[in-house]
Amino acid sequence: MKRSNVCGELRKSDVDKEVVLCGWVSRRRDHGGLIFVDLRDRSGIVQIVFDEAAIGATAFDVAETLRNEFVIQVTGTVRARSEDTINPKMDTGEIEIVVSELEILNRSKTPPFYIQDGIDVDENVRLKYRYLDLRRPEMQQNLMLRHKVTMIMRNYLDKHGFLEIETPMLCRSTPEGARDFLVPSRLNAGQFYALPQSPQIFKQLLMVSGLERYFQIVRCFRDEDLRADRQPEFTQLDIETSFLDQNDILTIMEGLVKEIFESTLNAKIETPFKRMPWQEAMDRFGSDKPDLRFGMELMDISKFVGGSDFKVFNSVLESGGQIKVIKVDGYADIPRRELDGLVQFVQTYGAKGLAWIQYSKDGIKSPFKKFYSDETFEQIRVATGAEIGDLLLVVGDKPSVVAQALGELRLEMARRRGLIDPDKLCFLWVVDFPMFEYSDEDKRFKAMHHPFTMPRKEDWNLLDKPDELGKIRADAYDIVLNGVEVGGGSLRIYQSDLQQKVFKAIGLTDDEARAKFGFLLDAFEYGPPPHGGIAFGLDRLIMLMAKRKSIRDVIAFPKTQSAIDPMSHAPSEVDDKQLRELHIKTTVKKAQQ
Ligand code: AMO
Ligand code: AMP
Repeated sequence: MKRSNVCGELRKSDVDKEVVLCGWVSRRRDHGGLIFVDLRDRSGIVQIVFDEAAIGATAFDVAETLRNEFVIQVTGTVRARSEDTINPKMDTGEIEIVVSELEILNRSKTPPFYIQDGIDVDENVRLKYRYLDLRRPEMQQNLMLRHKVTMIMRNYLDKHGFLEIETPMLCRSTPEGARDFLVPSRLNAGQFYALPQSPQIFKQLLMVSGLERYFQIVRCFRDEDLRADRQPEFTQLDIETSFLDQNDILTIMEGLVKEIFESTLNAKIETPFKRMPWQEAMDRFGSDKPDLRFGMELMDISKFVGGSDFKVFNSVLESGGQIKVIKVDGYADIPRRELDGLVQFVQTYGAKGLAWIQYSKDGIKSPFKKFYSDETFEQIRVATGAEIGDLLLVVGDKPSVVAQALGELRLEMARRRGLIDPDKLCFLWVVDFPMFEYSDEDKRFKAMHHPFTMPRKEDWNLLDKPDELGKIRADAYDIVLNGVEVGGGSLRIYQSDLQQKVFKAIGLTDDEARAKFGFLLDAFEYGPPPHGGIAFGLDRLIMLMAKRKSIRDVIAFPKTQSAIDPMSHAPSEVDDKQLRELHIKTTVKKAQQ
């Protein structure tokens, strides 16, 4: 089968050329004696014209049977469109093809939705007919972008001496982290493999082996609750290096990110990226992944409002909490109804309430106005930089609740007030994460990243002090783009005494640690080099580059929010025979056949 060109590449310079094209009928307009068809292939769309006078009645009759999504081959001549029929919205809009021969290669049923950009169709329907959804130009562009990005990643890392090495998909289940997906072993009754949540341990073992620089574009599996930016299987660009310090690693990664964005999106990326300690991110933005495309930072007004008759703030402050605000410029006259809605909004993030100060033209309005003097309100106004016409939204609680509630409120208000520039790219490294975080549920400290993360040397002395564990910082870093965590990593512990102390801190005895991570600990007795790495969430990165709201739009065959594939109907029940072979009985009754 021959085609001389692809649809999307033809231009005015091709006029008078004879071409053979193949593709799908995207749209057909019948003008009696003249039929216009938009012909689509992967490269784009071109208009083809069937003129009864030129092509003859028999061929024209065939053209009249064309319907959307028929697959055809046409031979024809490129012709310039007349001035008044030029379509500036199409890359090929200055020309059209006058068809001399038509062959229908295949017919199609009427698709359940239009194959075009910007359709408003239930996502379940799109996923059920994903092969048609992926025919839509915008979806093809997302996959092409994804391909380009992974090519750049491979080339860049190859240039920098990284080796692409595969690691197992059938692994041992290791605790910590999310829930595992398990695979029963037929040959080993009652035993299970786990699908990898990440190749973390294997990539560290590759460093013990002396491979020095590893990468892999690898599928990871986590049985978590799903969201727009979370899938049960997703792809990481996974990286590990030896003999580099944190700054070396971040610098190589900045170079990679710069190359990706500059050569695909034509963006101008300034490096090095801003680096912000975790604590500062929490204090100023209430988030460990702040969106820096706009300001509206959190500010502490505790010192102005303490020691008054206002019980709410007093009790917060007495129990070690804080009172913080965000300033919404020019919104002092926010409707009361919207304020009531915001109270509910912060409550979903654990805050007990929300207060406000409206510095409106006709005076100050605030639910706690009667408890404070005009002077205090003036002090707060000056300290927060508020002007007449501005609104302060106030939350008092323990620091973690204030951060979450005001951090989310900051994002919400920025959206509502249109403060987010969709074309801006704000990269940030969040560094110095806490090593441990206290789990109220388990009544113990847990590793915030993972227990192989290197605590910062200045804080090693705190490892022996159970009360101070929360203060220990780690050599761990996340890369954040526009408020989305697109990657994270750390330097790793390579000294066995230090590793033991960390296990002890999270309540693991030597025996338990051996039982869980024995093979890694064994390996670490044979000269592990200083090493560290990072993993990028490829899907999230492409989602942001393609300006999409969900990673499902940049994955060819994703799962729904409930982890289902509506097309192939995975997961599904299996035969009793299959279960018997796997030595498995389910406690769930089979659905009626
Ligand atoms: P982490 O768990 O932070 O680190 O994962 C790295 C990046 O992977 C992306 N990501 C996800 N993307 C889609 N769906 C998910 N369910 C999902 N979970 C995570 C995020 C995240 O930043 N082994 C360590 C890395 C290291 O220390 O080198 C790890 O997996 O963008
Ligand atoms: P209450 O005593 O709960 O009726 O609260 C009185 C007012 O205090 C409310 O209308 C809110 O404006 C404010 N308020 C209550 N709890 C908080 C809180 N955690 N943070 C900020 N303001 C609060």
